[in-house]
Amino acid sequence: MSYKETILITGGAGFIGSHVVRLFVNKYPDCHIINLDKLTYAGNLANLKDIEDRPNYTFVKGDICDFEMLMKLFSGQQVTGVIHLAAESHVDRSIKDPFTFAQTNVMGTLALLQAAKLTWEALPEKFEGKRFYHISTDEVYGALEMTHPEGIQPPFTTKASSGKHHLSYGEQFFTEDLKYQPHSPYSAAKASSDHFVRAFHDTYGLPTIVTNCSNNYGPYQFPEKLIPLFINNIRHRKPLPVYGKGENVRDWLYVEDHARAIDLIFHKGKIGDTYNIGGFNEWKNIDIIKVLINTVDRILGRPEGEDMNLITYVTDRAGHDLRYAIDSSKLQRELGWEPSLQFEEGIEKTVRWYLDNQEWMDNVTSGDYQNYYNEMYNGR
Ligand code: NAD
Ligand code: DAU
Repeated sequence: MSYKETILITGGAGFIGSHVVRLFVNKYPDCHIINLDKLTYAGNLANLKDIEDRPNYTFVKGDICDFEMLMKLFSGQQVTGVIHLAAESHVDRSIKDPFTFAQTNVMGTLALLQAAKLTWEALPEKFEGKRFYHISTDEVYGALEMTHPEGIQPPFTTKASSGKHHLSYGEQFFTEDLKYQPHSPYSAAKASSDHFVRAFHDTYGLPTIVTNCSNNYGPYQFPEKLIPLFINNIRHRKPLPVYGKGENVRDWLYVEDHARAIDLIFHKGKIGDTYNIGGFNEWKNIDIIKVLINTVDRILGRPEGEDMNLITYVTDRAGHDLRYAIDSSKLQRELGWEPSLQFEEGIEKTVRWYLDNQEWMDNVTSGDYQNYYNEMYNGR
């Protein structure tokens, strides 16, 4: 069958990538969706079981740092668009092993950019109708303070430039024109990759788009990240390691809302532009942890709050950013995107998903899934 477009999604076996692949495979049967993933510890093909047999879906096991493989893939499959999510994504791991982060996030992105550029510019139509969409993070902007001009104690009600009111912990927000100030090796590597993407647009005219999104939560997130780790620990009554005083603030977005934003921006976003994606949904870690405890306890029929004693304050993360808060009004104003889920609804769905999918969690935490799926897809 000949397809209208061939879209290469990198990192599609990871948390956000699997939601993006699922959305695109289901929504665009006339497009060929290729998922290129190295299947690191964070990649898990069980995340895509429901769509793996679709005719418009192809999985390719490979490393984005492998330039020769990329060149073959681009020309052999006639790739017309890229949505680039593959990355090392966990801040704590980046503190222990910064080299892997520089290799994948910087060199891997560069290899992908160069393969896209060389392949597309050799075509008669060159960059016409092509798109290279790079998924980045709000962490590149650094950390925000928790201040109010009149000294009011946070959280307080703020009016966003979109006109909507929401609770916030500070007067400042990450906007698209803010200077980059990354603090962790993870965010430094992501910042560097963003600069390369923009440099390829400005230097060679590669049709790029960059988005910077806030913390995602939802099904299929690897349980090294706060929300799935804590849900699993509460279930098994294991200690909950809260970094520092639990006062740090993150801005949470349900992963399917991020995937919808990616779809919209991939198709309607302005070439060369940047969009911030976030839910205007700031939470202190300790408050979110209490919500998780109450929700898990209620669903499991335990007395609500019984597991508060699992909270264990531990040494803070080195260089721990105090507050992230995204201003996504540009995306709302220009492309009409809005988050669809209220946080309470999203957390309820998420907790239920992890509790209902204990087998997925057990496979991931035991590590067995990696051998099984790697063997299954070797040579494909
Ligand atoms: P994840 O760690 O769950 O998944 C990453 C995927 O990339 C995995 O499937 C892994 O196997 C694959 N991968 C890693 N190195 C690779 C390589 N060298 N070649 C090919 N594939 C490789 O990550 P995630 O949380 O889904 O994040 C996806 C992207 O979104 C990342 O670029 C991340 O920086 C960005 N992001 C994440 C969040 C969040 O809250 N999780 C928020 C904003 C932006
Ligand atoms: O802001 C977007 C970023 O969000 C993404 O770019 C990253 O890929 C993603 O991992 C996430 O980064 P964070 O560091 O914010 O997420 P994490 O789930 O690791 O931690 C969330 C907060 O919870 C953070 O303030 C650290 C704290 N924390 C985390 C863990 C794992 C704890 O207190 N204890 C823990 O055990």
